[in-house]
Amino acid sequence: MSKLKIALAKGDGIGPEIMDATLELFAAAGVSKHLEYIPVEMGKSVFDAGNSRGMTEAAVKTVEDVGLVFKGPMETPKGGGGKSINVTLRKMFNAFANVRTFKTLPGVHTVYSRAGVPIDMTIVRENIEDTYGGVEHRLSNDMIQCKRLISAPGCDEVHRFAWQHARKLGLKKVFCGHKANIMKMTDGLFLDRFKAAARDFPEIESADVIVDALCMNLVIRPQQYQMVVLPNLQGDIVSDLCAGLVGGLGFAPSANIGKHICLFEAVHGTAPDLAGKGIANPTALILSGLMMLRHIGMLQQAAVIENALLTALEQGVRTGDFGDTSKPVLGTRQYVQAIVERLGSKPSSVASVAVPEGPETLPVFSRPPRPLSQQVIRTFSNVVRHVVGCDIYLDTPLSPVSVAEEMQRICEDTPFRLLLVSNRGTQVWPTGSVYTECVDYYRVRFELKDGHRPGDFGQARCVALLDKVAEKFQVCSYELLRVFDGVKGYSLAQGQ
Ligand code: NAI
Repeated sequence: MSKLKIALAKGDGIGPEIMDATLELFAAAGVSKHLEYIPVEMGKSVFDAGNSRGMTEAAVKTVEDVGLVFKGPMETPKGGGGKSINVTLRKMFNAFANVRTFKTLPGVHTVYSRAGVPIDMTIVRENIEDTYGGVEHRLSNDMIQCKRLISAPGCDEVHRFAWQHARKLGLKKVFCGHKANIMKMTDGLFLDRFKAAARDFPEIESADVIVDALCMNLVIRPQQYQMVVLPNLQGDIVSDLCAGLVGGLGFAPSANIGKHICLFEAVHGTAPDLAGKGIANPTALILSGLMMLRHIGMLQQAAVIENALLTALEQGVRTGDFGDTSKPVLGTRQYVQAIVERLGSKPSSVASVAVPEGPETLPVFSRPPRPLSQQVIRTFSNVVRHVVGCDIYLDTPLSPVSVAEEMQRICEDTPFRLLLVSNRGTQVWPTGSVYTECVDYYRVRFELKDGHRPGDFGQARCVALLDKVAEKFQVCSYELLRVFDGVKGYSLAQGQ
């Protein structure tokens, strides 16, 4: 009988301890005989060997061949150029949806469990875009920028997945969390595409909530949410908040789902304070493993393991980070042994997970054929674009009035006029407040003078203007101002 291959990266810090314990449980539950774990080299040892990507070429090939990764937490090098291997993995292999489930567990006491408030919620976090593009530049002596990138097809991938997942789970309502009241274009796009995707799932109610209000609501009445979909950074923060609602990071599993490659890991990190002591809580990794087993159709085995875990928890089995303090603290290995001893049992204080009947379920993982080259995903609408001006960004310590005077002189014999000067997004010329403090990085906005028709030719004229500005000023960058099918493709300055 052929086994399903899974790339296995035990991780750093507590990673190897909790992974070994989890695999021990999987073996005892009869899972491992159907799976072949292929070790892959990733994380600290690879960074330490001078590989700034944090994974070997052989590891990349294995992940691409196999399509499934079960991983422990991995350390991100502090300082230097080394980026988080965890984020690299999700982005490089296009695992666009980060699914995190948060559930009240017996024996894990929280203010909510004590108050009898049950929590059962899924956060779906966009996993590729947003500030996690990590596109950052120093623009002047005092200013640093991080670009926030949100694309329509990127939104569509995560929203489509979220709605399909909600349907599979039989949920009644899905929320989109966002900040579209402030970031009208980026978060606005994320929200628009959520609403568009919702139309294909009419049996599920859809709603949106501003992320700050969401955080308050989650603390006051968490049971009102079944699923929330969020952009990357907001989803990261909100999901740690949700972990706190159910007892902490030790109980927060996650799956990173893509069309071709899926990665399963706990939400927590390497817990350097616990590493090597054999005392870390493996529950989040076990729960992540259960997400993986369900993803590959091993529903029976997942249900049996989950029931054993719930039984152990309700009987007070615990590691040092949670539980009834009158019960003994177990090490990672003993904790897992206690779960193994309860395989076949069902919890009595909470609903057990239904174990599908019939012959043992075997793992299945199907994926689309390997693409021949990197795919360009597009929404393919034939939008008519017209250039109407440009924003030029300057590194200068001058005052707003001096910047404006210089710019007006520069654009005199061009097709453009100076519309505004802004600093940190706030208009400081032609109107503004003397109380607006400025830093050494300005935006000057030019638009076509009356009598000049917008057109595709505009980019060349903008570049010519940029050239003239650059003769006198340090230009950091420029952005075209364009209308798309007659709709402005740029935001107004604050106070404009
Ligand atoms: P962390 O999640 O490792 O630790 C935060 C706190 O939670 C610590 O007090 C720790 O003892 C506790 N904790 C975490 N997991 C636990 C467990 N299983 N059982 C009991 N207690 C647990 O976060 P931190 O300290 O910010 O990050 C440490 C390293 O982990 C960093 O290098 C970071 O980049 C990396 N990291 C990796 C992640 C991943 O692999 N997906 C996710 C988050 C952080």
